[in-house]
Amino acid sequence: MTLVTKLAPSILAADYANFASELKRIEETGVDYVHIDLMDGQFVPNISFGADVVASMRKHSKLVFDCHLMVVNPERYIDALAQAGADIMTIHTESTPHIHGALQKIRAAGMKAGVVINPGTPLTALEPVLDLVDQVLIMTVNPGFGGQAFIPSTLTKVQDLVTLRQERGLAFDIEVDGGIDDTTIKLAQQAGANVFVAGSYLFKGDLAANVARLTEVLNA
Ligand code: DX5
Ligand code: ZN
Repeated sequence: MTLVTKLAPSILAADYANFASELKRIEETGVDYVHIDLMDGQFVPNISFGADVVASMRKHSKLVFDCHLMVVNPERYIDALAQAGADIMTIHTESTPHIHGALQKIRAAGMKAGVVINPGTPLTALEPVLDLVDQVLIMTVNPGFGGQAFIPSTLTKVQDLVTLRQERGLAFDIEVDGGIDDTTIKLAQQAGANVFVAGSYLFKGDLAANVARLTEVLNA
């Protein structure tokens, strides 16, 4: 099984008043993914934006839209996000009692399905749905805000997930999100992740140079 390494700049760290130009700037660095965080002020304290904004972004970008929903009952937004042009919809096991059905609906709506767990949630929470997903996101910070410190204990879950994937003969991507910089990205890669979200690290200073730096570390 060959998994492709992807860097996913998080638009949460970009300029909210200029999404069109920020998307262009991300695209020009040569990455394929943009990570889009939807927050409702309930599942997490912060509020970002919803599916209408994603639809507006779609008009300005051909990047893969990797949508991470930090909202209560995310199944309410499956149709809206599919229509908005989202490519991947990743939902938290902690956010709905209907994670199994919701993941099936995401695929039925034509998107790739992702499941995500918080740092305090054990891997067992997603074991029953692993065969329904294209991507598993292991949060490496508590969700809600950019700029937090990476939590090293989450790496054990990445390692255990690699083992589980092999045992089950599955092929989903493993993504990490939170506190990723030019040191922690290597730790996450060594643990077995292949999709790396980065927000504040990339958008502080020169975006292109920061993407190049993370790519260099990943290729080293
Ligand atoms: C946090 C979000 C992340 C955030 C990461 O809840 O899910 O995607 O943008 O930001 P950094 O890379 O700054 O930790
Ligand atoms: Zn995220």
